[in-house]
Amino acid sequence: PSATDPWRPVAHLTADKNWLNDPNGLVHHDGTYHAFYQYNPRGNSWGNMSWGHSTSTDLVHWEQQPVALEASPEEEIFSGCIVMDQNNASGLGSAENPPMVALYTSAYGRNGALSEGAQAQSVAFSLDNGTTWQKYQGNPVLNLAPTNNNFRDPKITWYEPGRYWVMTTVVADAQVVKLFKSTDLLHWDYLSDFSGVGAQGGLWEVPELVLMDVEDSTAKKWVMLLSINPGGIAGGSGMQYFVGEFDGTRFTAENAAAPDAPLSESQWLDHGADYYAANSISGAPGDKPVLLGWMGNWDYAEHVPTTPWRGSMAIPRELTLVRGERRFEVRSAISAAARQTLERGDVKSKNLTVGSSDQDLGEDFTGRAQLIELEMDLTSSREAGVILRQSADANTGLRISYDKETRTVKVDRSRAGTTNFSEKFSPYHAVSLPPSGSDGSVRLEILLDSSSVEVFAQDGAAVISDTFFPDWDATGSSVFSVDGDTEFTVRMRAL
Ligand code: FRU
Repeated sequence: PSATDPWRPVAHLTADKNWLNDPNGLVHHDGTYHAFYQYNPRGNSWGNMSWGHSTSTDLVHWEQQPVALEASPEEEIFSGCIVMDQNNASGLGSAENPPMVALYTSAYGRNGALSEGAQAQSVAFSLDNGTTWQKYQGNPVLNLAPTNNNFRDPKITWYEPGRYWVMTTVVADAQVVKLFKSTDLLHWDYLSDFSGVGAQGGLWEVPELVLMDVEDSTAKKWVMLLSINPGGIAGGSGMQYFVGEFDGTRFTAENAAAPDAPLSESQWLDHGADYYAANSISGAPGDKPVLLGWMGNWDYAEHVPTTPWRGSMAIPRELTLVRGERRFEVRSAISAAARQTLERGDVKSKNLTVGSSDQDLGEDFTGRAQLIELEMDLTSSREAGVILRQSADANTGLRISYDKETRTVKVDRSRAGTTNFSEKFSPYHAVSLPPSGSDGSVRLEILLDSSSVEVFAQDGAAVISDTFFPDWDATGSSVFSVDGDTEFTVRMRAL
C-alpha cells in the first residue's frame, strides 16, 4: 500500500487492477496454488465476467497470471471449480499429461449455445498446468432444459465409495442445491436435491460438499458449504453450512435450522459482513479443507472506494469439525501454510492491566497490517477490547471488543474511516460466544491488513471478517476496559 493506494492489502489476493469476486477453480498442483476467480478484465465493477488467475506458493503472496477464460458477447464465465483429472477419465489430455479440468457456468448472451439469459454448466481444460485453457466442444455439458434460469456454480468432490465425482450446483432463486454424478467429468447424471433447511432469505449460491474428519475421533461427516445473498447473518451476503451424511445419492443435514427459525439458529462460517463464496482448494496438502473466500458483500462491494482494483480474497482458512454441545460445529483457523509466512516477522509483546480509560500501546504497536494475538481477562471488568488503525487524535479507529454480560464479540467499523460510499455499509457485527472457563477470559487472533480485519475468536469458534477503509495516517493501537480493570496480553507482528 501507499498513500495513493492506501487500501491495497499486503497479505491477501487482489488483482493488480479491476474487479474481482468469487474464487473459482482453486487447485494445488506441483507445489503451486492456483486461484482462478470472477474477474472483469475491462473495468472496476462487475461485468464481462471472466476467470482471472493468480498463483502462489505460500497462500499469502500472489502473482497475477494472464486471464484464463475470457468473456465473449455469447458467453460470460461464471463461478465453478477445477480438479486434476489424474487418470485422464475425460480423455481431454493423455495418460502422460493428464488435464486440469474446469467446470464453470456459462451465462449466455445473444447467439450463445442456449437462449439469452440461460445458465448451464460447461467444461474447459488445460494441458499446461493452468496457463492456457480450451473450451470443450460439447458445451454445455449439463443443463436443466427447458428452463435454465439461475442454474449455476458447479463444484465437484470425489466420492471414493462409489468412485465417481459428485457435483453440487444451485438453482439460486429457488433455494435448491442440485447434486449430479459423473465418472468422466463430461456426462452428468442427476442424483438429488437439497433444500428446505437453513436461511432462505436470498439466492443460494456457490454450494460445496466436503468430507471432514471429526476432531478427536475416527468418524467423518459431510459438510455442505453454502452462500446466501441477501439474508446472511450480518446483512447481505453470508455463508452458512450444514453438517450431515451423504450416501452417494442424497445429502441429509442433521440438526439443521428450520427455514423459519431466526438466523442465529443457522450455522455460519463467518459472522462478519465480508466473507462469501468460499470454496476449498482441491489437492491442498494436509487433511483439512483449506478455503479461500471473497472478502466482499453484494450489498456494497461495487461501491467500495478502492481503485484501480476492487475486491480482495480472505486469508485461506483451515476448517476443523468438532462435536459441540448441541451439534457438530466448524472451527476456522488461518491455514498452516499462510501462517508460516505471516509469522515470519518479530513479535512485539506486552502485558498490561488497564482501568477505565483507553491506553495507547505505543510506537512499537503502530501499523497498517498486523497479525495480533490478544488475550483479555475480564474477571474484574465488563467489557474490553482493542482499537486498531486509530487516528492521532484518538477520535476514530476500528473497535474490536468482548462484552462479558452479553457474551458477544463485536467488530465496530462505524468510525474507522470512509463509510459514506454506501448506505448499506453496515456499522458493526457481533457474535455471541462464551468466555473461557469461569474467569471470563477471551482469546482473539486478529489479522489486520490495510482495508480488512479477520477476527478469529476463541480459537476459531467464530470468525468476523469485515472490510473497512481507514485513513492512511491512522496507524495507532490502543486497548480499553469498561467497568473495571482488564488484564491484557498483546502479541503483534508487523506484516
Ligand atoms: C456469487 C455469484 C455466483 C455467480 C457469480 C457471478 O457471488 O453471484 O452465483 O456464478 O457470482 O459473478
